[in-house]
Amino acid sequence: MFPDKKWAVVTGAGRGLGKTISLALAKEGLAVLLVARSEEQLKSVADEIKAGGGCAAYLPLDLSNPQAIATAFFDTYSDKIILAVHNAGIARVGRLAEMKAEEWQAVQDVNVRGPFLLTQKLLPLMPKGSQFVFINSVAGKQSFTEWGAYCASKAALKALADTLRAEVQPRGIRVTSIYPAAVDTPLQDTIPYDWDRTKMMRAEDVAEAVLYCVRQPQAVRINEIDLENSAGTF
Ligand SMILES: NC(=O)c1ccc[n+]([C@@H]2O[C@H](COP(=O)([O-])OP(=O)(O)OC[C@H]3O[C@@H](n4cnc5c(N)ncnc54)[C@H](OP(=O)(O)O)[C@@H]3O)[C@@H](O)[C@H]2O)c1
Repeated sequence: MFPDKKWAVVTGAGRGLGKTISLALAKEGLAVLLVARSEEQLKSVADEIKAGGGCAAYLPLDLSNPQAIATAFFDTYSDKIILAVHNAGIARVGRLAEMKAEEWQAVQDVNVRGPFLLTQKLLPLMPKGSQFVFINSVAGKQSFTEWGAYCASKAALKALADTLRAEVQPRGIRVTSIYPAAVDTPLQDTIPYDWDRTKMMRAEDVAEAVLYCVRQPQAVRINEIDLENSAGTF
């Protein structure tokens, strides 16, 4: 353990937005605790951070499993975690009339219950002045045909973050939600649309928004950042 380091916990850190955010935070001087299920991907990101002179550790964890979150060991990071980025998320699309309940629930479990339970776990370890950043989506504020499960999860995530913001304000802890439109990440491979990925935002664009929050003085709290595609809606 690096006793003097300040840590950021990033979920979904093995690829896509979480990987890029983790690399950016490491460059910013934070030690990064990488969380997702795929140990191989987490190790690869940790190696990349270390090769660049940064500091990283990883924790394989299935955020859809409440028991796994309950038993995950974060206590060695007590008072050292100054940033938690709730980024892990999945998308399952389909019209509500046809969507299986299990599919609906899988989306809610990762996108909402996971961040809720992980917040309960991390909050006691985070000192005054620390920050939560929730990677939400344009779908947290707007609904789209075939995206009912995802939109419901992200709208709930907005409510979770808004409530947390009010509850932790007396402790000097800040909560930001970032609402990106389409970003070119591996998530796009999991959905059945033939969208032009060259017109989408890049993961670096979202990472830049996270850095913007991290760089604010303690007196400034950014509640929301909307990142829309200048090319229009996909
Ligand atoms: N890409 C977009 O267009 C877009 C736009 C707006 C918002 N977002 C949001 O941005 C976030 C990141 O998306 P992305 O595009 O980077 O997705 P991605 O490329 O599919 O990566 C998702 C990450 O989440 C992890 N993850 C998934 N299920 C998990 C579970 N049960 N437990 C722990 N980790 C899990 C994955 O790792 P494992 O599979 O190894 O667990 C992976 O590291 C999501 O919340 C997404 O909703 C994305």
